[in-house]
Amino acid sequence: MLDVNAITTRHTERFGDAPAVFLAPGRVNLIGEHTDYAGGFVMPAAIDFGTLAAISPRNDGRIVIWSENFHEQVSHPSDGLPPSGRGHWSGYPLGVVKVLRDAGFAVPAFSLTLQGDVPLGAGLSSSASIEVATALAALSLTDANPEREEIAKLCQRAENTYVGSSCGIMDQFIACRGAENHALLLDCRSLEYRLAPIPPSVSIVIANTMVKHSVAGGEYGIRRAEVEEGTAFLRGHRPEIELLRDAGPQDLEQWGAEMPDNVLRRCRHIITENLRTVAAADALAAGNMKRLGDLMAAAHASYRDDFEASCEEADIMVGAAEHLPGLIGARLTGGGVGGCTVNLVQAGHAQDFAVRLHDEYRMRTGIAAEIYRCHASAAAHAV
Ligand code: GLA
Repeated sequence: MLDVNAITTRHTERFGDAPAVFLAPGRVNLIGEHTDYAGGFVMPAAIDFGTLAAISPRNDGRIVIWSENFHEQVSHPSDGLPPSGRGHWSGYPLGVVKVLRDAGFAVPAFSLTLQGDVPLGAGLSSSASIEVATALAALSLTDANPEREEIAKLCQRAENTYVGSSCGIMDQFIACRGAENHALLLDCRSLEYRLAPIPPSVSIVIANTMVKHSVAGGEYGIRRAEVEEGTAFLRGHRPEIELLRDAGPQDLEQWGAEMPDNVLRRCRHIITENLRTVAAADALAAGNMKRLGDLMAAAHASYRDDFEASCEEADIMVGAAEHLPGLIGARLTGGGVGGCTVNLVQAGHAQDFAVRLHDEYRMRTGIAAEIYRCHASAAAHAV
């Protein structure tokens, strides 16, 4: 549970100064998986799990960060940050500071307290919420007020270059631009976006398979490399294909047979997922829940069979949801191989749905899942 009063008190006790506090949300992706780094479309919503960042300036030239979650403190000379931040939680906030400074923002020495309630390794973007909360906090100590799009890009750069995980822009962008009761359709190349209201009759039920997911882990990078291999292959035939986003089903029909089978299937997932994602935004906007649900089901099948980024537990969770009253659509969300499924459920059924999904998953796997009923929430902000 996020608690602004508690983090304010903890920060003041620990560092002797009253902080400014910022909140950045985690996210759930409704549809559009592994399309972001291919320049394609995604449709996430910010959720009511997030990270609080409490900050105050220091006058001893150090950057000191305390994590409430890890109960650990790191302290570095402000002008002597470690060159990279792999494998430790502090890599996320330190990377943001480094990247902000490299971009010309004069972030001074500070004390920072972080507290988050985004489940870790669940595919709900705890990383991006830490990055964006840190960025807003650090920028509050400067005179600068960059656009949210720029903040999202800088946070992504921090994760790519400092933490060393090759994520796309989706998670940082939704943390910066999400809106209460809305999903956001994002064109990941132009960064143009459109908000689509989620009606009060629809609940978001997130089901944690309890199988850990990690972008920093191997599978994500392997998939990304396969996608890039396919893109380069198609570009050989059609030089205007800069990103896979520029290719269509006809390109695979024409040249797919010459590609290695795994590469063909990864590309087919992304090309069809882009089409599904735009169609899903239209369906949501039109209130056509049947179509939205069908698109989510097709997205899960494609993620499982063509992209091979699901896992047995996630397939069981999605399968269990399909039989329950009130389901609109279910699929594995996030970077894959574990993490959570997202279920859109008719609001009147949501409570019962959550209980029955938990029970059925436990019966079939022996695992006690955590089920979260979330709301589409606002973008990062000062609190
Ligand atoms: C992770 C990455 C995102 C995106 C998703 C898959 O969440 O951080 O950039 O690629 O996986 O859609």
